[in-house]
Amino acid sequence: MTPDEAKEAAAREALQHVSEGMKIGLGTGSTAEKFVAGLGEMVADGLNVVCVPTSEATREQAESLNIPLTRLDEEPVLDLTVDGADELDANLTLIKGGGGALLREKIVASSSKQMIVIADHTKKVETLGAFSLPVEIVPFGVKATAMKLEHAGKWAGCNGALALRIRDGELFVTDNGNVIIDCAFGTIPDAQKLASVISTIPGVVDHGLFIGMAGMAILGGPDGLEIIES
Ligand code: 5RP
Repeated sequence: MTPDEAKEAAAREALQHVSEGMKIGLGTGSTAEKFVAGLGEMVADGLNVVCVPTSEATREQAESLNIPLTRLDEEPVLDLTVDGADELDANLTLIKGGGGALLREKIVASSSKQMIVIADHTKKVETLGAFSLPVEIVPFGVKATAMKLEHAGKWAGCNGALALRIRDGELFVTDNGNVIIDCAFGTIPDAQKLASVISTIPGVVDHGLFIGMAGMAILGGPDGLEIIES
């Protein structure tokens, strides 16, 4: 099974949790894209749902498939959000933001009664941190914020290089007009402690640690699907 097939299998399973009339948050990334593609097929077959995308990229995909969209301002409580992850542990603590959409992803997930994570099995880890933790910050005072972030990381037992995200030779700018610092911590011994201290730093908009949000993860792999529930 290729990683692509594993993502597809997870996305197809997540579609089983969709029902008529639901308000759904649509995640961002290559796995979420497969869920949105499948949802588009269900909408074409007559399913009535209304969705909130977590990025402009997902919005474009959903619009191209004629999936009805709304805004959180119209529907502040959603039934379900389905999204990918960069890493997850057995407690369903996640690292997200590899695609740069972590802020809207977190707002949408936290506005949903249920969050299902879909991924290929390689995203499951013993201890989070091998994937660099994305932190979205405002563009003003980047260096000062990065220094505080580094100190905060050390206080929470996390050491490693911090790098301003560059994509295709250009500064990466989020859908919200912010920038991202990727923190290569290696291991995160206490995600809650790290999340709490990062959130106190002026200039930080949000971080990619999702704690206590996902109720279920569906992981595709060579041995079939693994379901983790919190
Ligand atoms: C985007 C994300 C994605 O969900 C995460 O990067 C996983 O992406 P993929 O499914 O392509 O591996 O957090 O901000």
